[in-house]
Amino acid sequence: DPLAALVADLPACELHVHLEGTLEPELLLELAARNGVELATRTVEEVRATHVFDSLASFLAVYYPAMDVLQTRRDFTDLATAYLTRAAAQDVRRAEVFFDPQAHTSRGVPFEVVVEGLLEAVERAPHELGVDAALIMCFLRDHPVVSAEETLTASLPYADRILGVGLDSDERGHPPADFAAVFARAREAGYRLTVHCDIDQPGTLEHLRQALEDVRVDRIDHGTNIVEAPELLALAVERGLGFTSCPLSNGFVTEQMKAPEIVALLRAGAKVCVNGDDPAYFGGYLKENLLALARVADLSPADVVQLARNSFEASWAPPERVAEHL
Ligand code: HPA
Ligand code: ZN
Repeated sequence: DPLAALVADLPACELHVHLEGTLEPELLLELAARNGVELATRTVEEVRATHVFDSLASFLAVYYPAMDVLQTRRDFTDLATAYLTRAAAQDVRRAEVFFDPQAHTSRGVPFEVVVEGLLEAVERAPHELGVDAALIMCFLRDHPVVSAEETLTASLPYADRILGVGLDSDERGHPPADFAAVFARAREAGYRLTVHCDIDQPGTLEHLRQALEDVRVDRIDHGTNIVEAPELLALAVERGLGFTSCPLSNGFVTEQMKAPEIVALLRAGAKVCVNGDDPAYFGGYLKENLLALARVADLSPADVVQLARNSFEASWAPPERVAEHL
């Protein structure tokens, strides 16, 4: 199978993966045992049986409670190391990975424990795994804006070790413009900016407009609904903005991978790339996503190579590092 062979050998960047969404059932159970956390599920099969989603909200209702097992600095290091090890095995050369500090600080885990635990893994990855890694701190849009402000303030001592900020969680009723001031402060602190514009959410085109015009993002996560707004798409293409698509995730959160929309972005010259999102929950890491999309959309080998190229061009790596891979 030539397509599978091409994907199997193709280096790429991962730009949209939530570290908490890489918590595999095996590690979940191991951390629960280590920390004495009582879970309702006792086996890998029982954990997997809870992975039934038909919307973003139904996914988040499983995603957040699982995080209770993450308590110590070592837990966060182990989580990130497990992901980066898998990334290395999938020829991921660079990973710009999300984490959700408020999902931990809101249950009493100090910000420093989370960040220092993750940084330990991220800063070892280039030497030990050959993966250039960086952190993107996401604000939870369904928490108060003041909580995002506090999270940004807590991050400032680490500003030179955190690459960017993002916006995730339940999008309904939580437009990017609500966070424009926090994002402006984040930019002042040297962070790059990205925002989730999840698939088919209420108000999605207005959210895309706000992300582009009010927040002035440096990238968009998901965002495939932009194909419905040609003038916004033209603006994004003109700015060379990256779009981080996640086909398998789309297939859970809606009923389709949104392959035609992803292909439309590719044809329009947008820097769209393929990513894992929450691979422990949605059934595949980067390569499984790329191959699934390639098959459903009947992509040519050149299209698949272009998606991988786009992942480097949409990354926030220094230009000379990007050039090494193209
Ligand atoms: N969308 C919104 N919030 C999230 C996601 C996502 O895909 N994954 C983890 N938190
Ligand atoms: Zn996401």
